Amino acid sequence: MPSRPTEPLEGLTHRTGRFEDRCDLGPLLGKGGVGAVRGGHQRHLARQVAVKTVDGSEQMLHQEAAAMAAVAGPGVPSVFGMGRDDFDRPALYMSRVEGRSWRSLICPGGRLLAPPGAAADPLDWHLGVLLDVAAVVERAHARGVIHRDIKPGNVLARADGTASLIDWGLALAVDERNPALRHVDDVEQVEGTTGYLAPEMIAVRSRLIGLRTDVFLLGACLHMLLTGRAPYVQPDMTARLKAALKCLPEDYPSTAPAGLVAIARRAMSRRPGERYPDAGAFRAALAACRATRRARRHVASARAAMNCLERMWHEGGDADVEALLAPVRRHLVTALHLEPDNRDAMALLLRSGRLQDSIASRSLCTRAVSAPTAPRPRGGAVPAITRVG
Ligand SMILES: Nc1ncnc2c1ncn2[C@@H]1O[C@H](COP(=O)(O)OP(=O)(O)OP(=O)(O)O)[C@@H](O)[C@H]1O
Ligand SMILES: [Mg+2]
Repeated sequence: MPSRPTEPLEGLTHRTGRFEDRCDLGPLLGKGGVGAVRGGHQRHLARQVAVKTVDGSEQMLHQEAAAMAAVAGPGVPSVFGMGRDDFDRPALYMSRVEGRSWRSLICPGGRLLAPPGAAADPLDWHLGVLLDVAAVVERAHARGVIHRDIKPGNVLARADGTASLIDWGLALAVDERNPALRHVDDVEQVEGTTGYLAPEMIAVRSRLIGLRTDVFLLGACLHMLLTGRAPYVQPDMTARLKAALKCLPEDYPSTAPAGLVAIARRAMSRRPGERYPDAGAFRAALAACRATRRARRHVASARAAMNCLERMWHEGGDADVEALLAPVRRHLVTALHLEPDNRDAMALLLRSGRLQDSIASRSLCTRAVSAPTAPRPRGGAVPAITRVG
């Protein structure tokens, strides 16, 4: 057997095998607490793969594969198989997911990075990523699986706002449907990432770990979007665990949107019974709040444009105010689609209707005034209307 590398073979092409076809190992994609993930190329099938190897806990890698198989679908890497690499380490072969670590897009000061197309409202783009993650967790819950390590560092986000949730090594079965997975009742010790732990993940004997533990972790991701930091950031591990046990996360800046803060607070309630019951309920609340935020942005754009158009109309410039009304109405219709009882959008729509009426009646007057004297155009073309007043 070859000697074990002490350092990852960054950039080296290395052959690894005993998995349906030999696989050329590529660059290191990431390294975590217990393992490393490398890109690989499976020659026989000419496909890109990701290969996760762990030092020691083979059982955990099997659990990870079993969980990913149970929740297979969009947003979860596909399991291709298990094997051993040339150093006899257990290896998990899976589809290689595109995307950047979501964690790397959240700056410590709270600044959120987003792709160029989403630069106008980076928080909206990040909420889209969180909704996509919540949809994956919702599917897992529907299949009786909890993830237990949901955090931005375990999410790969793509520019279009879709995301993949990785690192299913701590997943558990909450019922009897997935016998290959460790059952939630078998947890005996604190497991998870300390900056994010829900209280029941520390008070393991409370036997309260369940769907609402994942809801807490989704709330912790939202907390991170609103503050730029994990809920518990004390440098000392014991202090971090104490804060997590009492459920005392860092507070939110006063500028954080109140609706989102309320969702994060409810999701991260100390008592699981006070949280959203599952990822689906969390996702629905977040989706509604995001729709409201979006609707208000459309209304704000429409209001600014309306003020401008009304001024232009009264000042009587050359601009085609009627044509410029169309995009304003589109903003308002979109806002009402997102938030059907948005009163500001309704009021602005009425205002735009009144402006439209004024334009129409003024152009009628103009036609009436100019009709008797205007020469009939050749070829039936409509004469240009000069604005009066
Ligand atoms: N299927 C995949 N496709 C592409 N990149 C991946 C894939 N799986 C993992 N990675 C990369 O490898 C990194 C580490 O993966 P993962 O989180 O599964 O390892 P880990 O050792 O359990 O990490 P940690 O202990 O830090 O949580 C990820 O952050 C990601 O960058
Ligand atoms: Mg990880």
